[in-house]
Amino acid sequence: MRVKVLGSAAGGGFPQWNCNCRNCDGVRSGALHALPRTQSSIAVSSDGMRWVLFNASPDILQQLKATPELQPARAIRDTGIEGVVLIDAQIDHTTGLLMLREGQRPLPIFCTDMVREDLTTGNPLFRILEHYCGVEWHRIGGDRWTFTIPGADALEFTAMPLKSAAPPYSPHRHDPHPGDNIGVRVTDTSSGRSLFYAPGLGEIEPHVEAAMRAADCVLVDGTFWTDEEMVELGISVKRAREIGHLPQSGAGGMMEWLDRFEKPRKILIHINNTNPILNDDAPERAELAARGIEVAFDGMDIRI
Ligand code: MLT
Ligand code: MN
Ligand code: ZN
Repeated sequence: MRVKVLGSAAGGGFPQWNCNCRNCDGVRSGALHALPRTQSSIAVSSDGMRWVLFNASPDILQQLKATPELQPARAIRDTGIEGVVLIDAQIDHTTGLLMLREGQRPLPIFCTDMVREDLTTGNPLFRILEHYCGVEWHRIGGDRWTFTIPGADALEFTAMPLKSAAPPYSPHRHDPHPGDNIGVRVTDTSSGRSLFYAPGLGEIEPHVEAAMRAADCVLVDGTFWTDEEMVELGISVKRAREIGHLPQSGAGGMMEWLDRFEKPRKILIHINNTNPILNDDAPERAELAARGIEVAFDGMDIRI
């Protein structure tokens, strides 16, 4: 299985347009040893030809230009994207759908009822797309947590509900429902190897722990280093856990969890521009490396 990291930053990207935190300022000026990053998305394939897109970031056009594998050019209009899986309805994971409106057939989109509801009410992207290519919605949930995607048949997807948060615009932002956020295990049935992907993960419940332990590679929430990161910088009053992201450091943090798993390759993704791990020379980055934890970057090609 191949995983292409299309965008490795959280909402806002890195640098964020209006941010002058140490990281954003440093990457802009060149003073910091760090790679700029676009917003959160990956593509997965068994054969390197037919791809499944996870999330559609506002930066999708730039990401597709940077990833020729996703444009095989077999016809006057063509794409290697066989379907789109949405892990939540956040702006950074969904607004790129509008950029796919020229599609030659209704966009096959796989998401939960809750995400579909947000994308037809609070942020009615699905309704807007009906005036362009249209949407072919496939339910995740109910009796369909495990599914396949026509055209990418060698991959098997198993989604699971996660504790994170619905988007700020959601009619049920403060009233969490199962299916607001999912994590997905992707298994390549030709090799038996698997990925667990969860860029928004607020709490590691027993079913998530089991999925992480069993995977060959985990690509998980790397948004914040500390719970108070944005509060301390005076950027926000919100703490990481409050908005559905488990910080890496501290008791019960992501590093502590990852240390318990022997099998998987461990990679952090969806990194917020305030996170010190974006700086290649930061001690926090060295701490991750000492624990065998990698930090995703745009264009990263993961072979599982
Ligand atoms: C989040 O996952 O919390 C988002 O990155 C927030 C956003 O898109 O603004
Ligand atoms: Mn996000
Ligand atoms: Zn910043």
